[in-house]
Amino acid sequence: MDLEVRISEIRAQLEAETNTPPACPPEQQRRWERLRSKYVGREGMVRELFGIVARLPADQKAAAGRRVNEFKAEIEARLNGAAPAPVAAGPAVDKTLPGRAPEPGRRHPVYRTWEEIVRLFQRLGFDVVYGPEIETEYHNFEALNIPLEHPSRDAFDTFYVRKPYLLRSHTSPVQIRTMKERKPPIRVIAPGKVFRPDKPDAGHSPMFHQVEGLMVGEGVTFAKLKGVLDLFAKSMWGPDTKIRFRPSFFPFTEPSAEVDVSCFICGAKGCPACKQSGWMEILGSGMVHPKVLENCGIDPEKNTGFAFGMGIERIAMLKYGIPDIRLFYENHFGFLRQF
Ligand code: PHE
Repeated sequence: MDLEVRISEIRAQLEAETNTPPACPPEQQRRWERLRSKYVGREGMVRELFGIVARLPADQKAAAGRRVNEFKAEIEARLNGAAPAPVAAGPAVDKTLPGRAPEPGRRHPVYRTWEEIVRLFQRLGFDVVYGPEIETEYHNFEALNIPLEHPSRDAFDTFYVRKPYLLRSHTSPVQIRTMKERKPPIRVIAPGKVFRPDKPDAGHSPMFHQVEGLMVGEGVTFAKLKGVLDLFAKSMWGPDTKIRFRPSFFPFTEPSAEVDVSCFICGAKGCPACKQSGWMEILGSGMVHPKVLENCGIDPEKNTGFAFGMGIERIAMLKYGIPDIRLFYENHFGFLRQF
């Protein structure tokens, strides 16, 4: 076998094998190792060339040996050009250490309570509806029978954006929007944020959440309101819970009532949580005022309705025994982890 012929064959093969770029660094590493052993390894092709040299006549051996060594250097140069880049030494990683699990998030107690209330009313056939947080005076007051310049507006102190726009001070404007959009029978529940310029303390926050309930149709009575709220209280605080209605006043309901639940901490015997009264106030309610129905184009001769509104934070505080409303907004992990 002619040495020069074999050298040019091997060169052509090596060129063909190193022409295409490798797919990825590990592939490059594997290819480089394979080619090294194939060409310059102990069983490789250079070794084969030295075999040819060994069989040559003695006077040709020295020159042929140099020729093969030259070619070996050429192969190594070509292989080194295709060598993988050295891997940068990173920080040492101890793969045997236990992993650090991310702490799973959980639902905020206000939102848990929101969902619990909403689900219960959904089971009773109420639709969930939402209204805007920036409202008009008309929806927040006038349509709800709270006239301009009427002293009853003082009870609903309000953040104004720019007249006639304001941050809604209760979820009752959603009643108006719903009655203008839908025809009776109507059964909706409207959760959301409300705003009042109150100085923050254990019981007040300038932003909090309410859920509004509204049912309008033929034959919707105060007895039905009592039935629905009784069910609500029992599902929230247990089957032994009682509710009581106290006469009250809201411009948009007539008659109006404030609703208390029996204190679930002391079983209505009297304790610090219920200020020894055995009862805790949870919501405002009443029969939708005929004027409000009329404002929304609903015939009050044919239809009646009830409405109620409750503060979600207040319900959550009573449910979980939380003493200060500000805890909900400070969001310390120690507090949140308990739910
Ligand atoms: N909107 C009243 C409030 O924020 C609560 C309420 C709603 C009362 C519906 C009666 C009927 O205090």
